[in-house]
Amino acid sequence: MSAAPGEAKLIERKFPLVEVNAMAECEMSFKTLARETRARITELLGVEKAKWKGLPKINNLMYYPARRPASAARAVTLASALGADVSLDDFKNALGFERAKEVARKSETITILFMVDPQRELVAKLLGRDPKSVVVVDPMAGGGSIPLEALRLGFAAIAGDYNPVAYLLLRATVEFPAKYGRKLYELVAEEARKMIEYARAELGRYYGEGDKNYVFFRAARHDCGGVLPLARTSALNRKRGIYVSFEYDKQAKVPVPKISDKQPPPLITCPYCGRLVSEGALQAKWVEEHAKLLEALLNGNEGAADRVAEVYLLAAIQQAGRGRRGGGYRSPTPEDLERLREAARELTEMAGSGELHSLIPLAPIPAGNEVFEDVREAGLRYWYQLFSPRQLLALAKLAAYVRRRAEELRDEYGELGAAAALYLALALAKLVNYNSLLTEWHASKQNIRDVTGSRYARGKKVELGYDFCEAVAPYAGLPWVLEAEEEEEEGEEAEDFEATRGGILPVLKLLCSSLEGLWREGVDGVYLWDATRLDEVLPHSSVDIVHVDPPYYDQHDYSGITEFFWVVIQQALLPVLDQLFPRERVKIDWSPYDPEIPRRLEVRGEPPKEVGALSAFGTKISAFLKAAAKVLKTDGLLVLWYAYGKLQGWEELFYRLYESGYKVTKTWQVWSESRQRFTASLAKAFLTSIVIVARPNAGRVPLLRAEDPQLEEAVRATVKSSLDAVLGVYGLDQLQPALVTSLADAFAVATGFRPVGYEEPLGVTASFRTLSGTALKVAVEAILEHLAQYAGAPAYAVGALDDVSRLYLFLLLAATPDLRVSYDFANRVAQALRASAAFDTVSLKAEKKEGMVLLRRPSEISTNLKFGRAMAFTLKLSELAERAGVRVAEEAVKEADRETVALACYLVALCWKKIGLSEERRDLLVKVLGGGP
Ligand SMILES: C[S@@+](CC[C@H](N)C(=O)[O-])C[C@H]1O[C@@H](n2cnc3c(N)ncnc32)[C@H](O)[C@@H]1O
Ligand SMILES: [Zn+2]
Repeated sequence: MSAAPGEAKLIERKFPLVEVNAMAECEMSFKTLARETRARITELLGVEKAKWKGLPKINNLMYYPARRPASAARAVTLASALGADVSLDDFKNALGFERAKEVARKSETITILFMVDPQRELVAKLLGRDPKSVVVVDPMAGGGSIPLEALRLGFAAIAGDYNPVAYLLLRATVEFPAKYGRKLYELVAEEARKMIEYARAELGRYYGEGDKNYVFFRAARHDCGGVLPLARTSALNRKRGIYVSFEYDKQAKVPVPKISDKQPPPLITCPYCGRLVSEGALQAKWVEEHAKLLEALLNGNEGAADRVAEVYLLAAIQQAGRGRRGGGYRSPTPEDLERLREAARELTEMAGSGELHSLIPLAPIPAGNEVFEDVREAGLRYWYQLFSPRQLLALAKLAAYVRRRAEELRDEYGELGAAAALYLALALAKLVNYNSLLTEWHASKQNIRDVTGSRYARGKKVELGYDFCEAVAPYAGLPWVLEAEEEEEEGEEAEDFEATRGGILPVLKLLCSSLEGLWREGVDGVYLWDATRLDEVLPHSSVDIVHVDPPYYDQHDYSGITEFFWVVIQQALLPVLDQLFPRERVKIDWSPYDPEIPRRLEVRGEPPKEVGALSAFGTKISAFLKAAAKVLKTDGLLVLWYAYGKLQGWEELFYRLYESGYKVTKTWQVWSESRQRFTASLAKAFLTSIVIVARPNAGRVPLLRAEDPQLEEAVRATVKSSLDAVLGVYGLDQLQPALVTSLADAFAVATGFRPVGYEEPLGVTASFRTLSGTALKVAVEAILEHLAQYAGAPAYAVGALDDVSRLYLFLLLAATPDLRVSYDFANRVAQALRASAAFDTVSLKAEKKEGMVLLRRPSEISTNLKFGRAMAFTLKLSELAERAGVRVAEEAVKEADRETVALACYLVALCWKKIGLSEERRDLLVKVLGGGP
């Protein structure tokens, strides 16, 4: 049903894009804010100068892939609940903008929406009904930004995920803080202190108290018996030029690490025997040695401990406490090596007493785990093999501790106790992220790169590197992960939030004080479920808003990366798994005692091979969309985030919505990544995040003839208003987001029609392809024409262009400053404009790299094309003006044909940089061309 104006929701009409994007951008920034972002947010908050502190974020509870900014999630949910007649001022106020301003003013700190509560009374007033009667469901809720903010707004929040790590994080982020409030925080704070004390007492003697981090190299024996490090780079501090180099003790046949100010040369020949060194052979040997050594230790063979220092070569030690940038480095001493051996001996001790085996992850890395595929292929088949002996010892001791406390806390407090233990297990998982053989040293930042932040983030795969690191668990690692030291100050108010170094407790404090009392058992809920079968869990026609941020093809491997943490969390929480996974919350056929994540349920798959094709991923999305349509009320909304960069994926999603009976009523381009990453993704592909608003069971307008103009008219109108909405606030330098939103809205329009008047009845796939093809073509034309207004050029500047010129001009506008554009995007636009054959005329296919094509330079476009003529004219004019003066150039303008002049005017205004003009030349040309011919 299409919304009559009276029932339309706010988000279908208006949305404070600039303000929300500014908030989202800040929230997604890490240690520093881009200058532009800072300028925008301080202006918005009305503060002259404000500090940017590391503020608590839900990500601090534990890593989870693809978290969305909570501030934006709040805004999108509220705009989906309120009617279109609510003013943007009231809306922003209800979101908490005024509160944020006040806090920013008082604390002189940049304050994002996430840091303050929404004005719940105002929400209720604007809504005109009890907010708890508004049911918001996030069926693929991951790290929980969406349900968290839905609950904070006062709505009924229901969230689920198929992934047990996500499910636990949802309970930890949303449910437990809301249910138990400050009591939970206090209990966890207390437990955290105890856990650190325990770590010091039990693990302290295996580490140096003044140490912060250890850098190791893997090492193996050469054929001659000499130990060689598997080192490739050895920089400790790249900026100051601090390296590890080795001297080789020819007698003992071991390398002796030294801190050096010179980059050592790579190892090509063996320093002991002079023969060539094969890296592959050394790698294989190390894997064998490592596996054998661990096995011996697990079998209680104490003698094996003597070998640890040569299999894991301690190369350098970063010391604690010398300023924020990281302390100095020292070389290992015999005591350091003895501590490594001691830890290994303790491991054999634990193995001997039989307690070790249930505390470390002995399960095999499943064959289906693609993230750890390379590691498996290298010969590491079991999870526990991803750790060095001392790392395993820390893991085992801490797991034993959490397990014991979990049992005791459960007996004393019931579910609250199990909840408290969950945060301790999350701390352990966080620590493990910084303590495995898959970590690496960050020589620019002077710290450990965790598994998720480096190897996984880079390639969605992890592999064995050369170096690996170890945090000093009892003295530095665990205290950092928990961040428990700061005692609460007297009379501190909830809103006087503290800066954080990224630990668990500061964000838990914020969550507990902000959510306390908002949970209603039986109304709100967190489930382990399969979103594609949502209709089997929730009552039909019961949901107001399905707000979801689904996976995007194979961009992430949720099962693969989280499994590494799951095996750790599961073992630590063994005694409370039944409390954490009660039967009524588990809606899938899987047991929490299974060390494998139920990956068969994950909505994931490759994108379609070619433009216009459909994918298996899409089939699952359709199943989900159809299930969601059943649980939505007739006037309910589906709101979907989409952050995939490729046009074919994008078009498939609109098709899937169409096929599942939805009509898209609006799209918005909302920032969901930090500016740095946003720009990076723009360079890679054309499209970024959009929020898509759709209505289920939609009635569609029938198109009675193939040439029925209704679709075309609707697309033109949409393009115009979308361009104005973005360019009106961002100006011409934000051309790309404007193009993105316009194209998205054009596809959205296509979902509102139904071709019926064709000779052959069209199936649903062909129907949509016809509609989306027309929509894209018309959108490109309408964009080019409407932009003429912004260029101060007459519409005929582009109206009469030949197809190839039109294609080139559009791609030029969409391209990066160095004239690159996504291949798929260019291809699809060419197809829509029926100019595919001309592809080589506009681009250099030979340059196709990483899915991008390089456009030909504007000056290289043939003068047989209108674009080429206008370009040649512009260059001639620019020279003439420079050489003979403005007057003479103006004469030339008068003599030229008016179409060429108009197009020149357009080019100078919209893409002067890309056509190679300097700023002075541009100004000169603007003068010469005047207001056009
Ligand atoms: C993009 S993430 C959501 C991130 C979340 N919005 C946040 O801010 O943290 C997509 C989620 O969909 C989940 N998912 C994938 N297939 C699913 C299925 N069949 N049922 C439920 N959830 C699923 C993944 O586990 C992942 O957590
Ligand atoms: Zn040798």
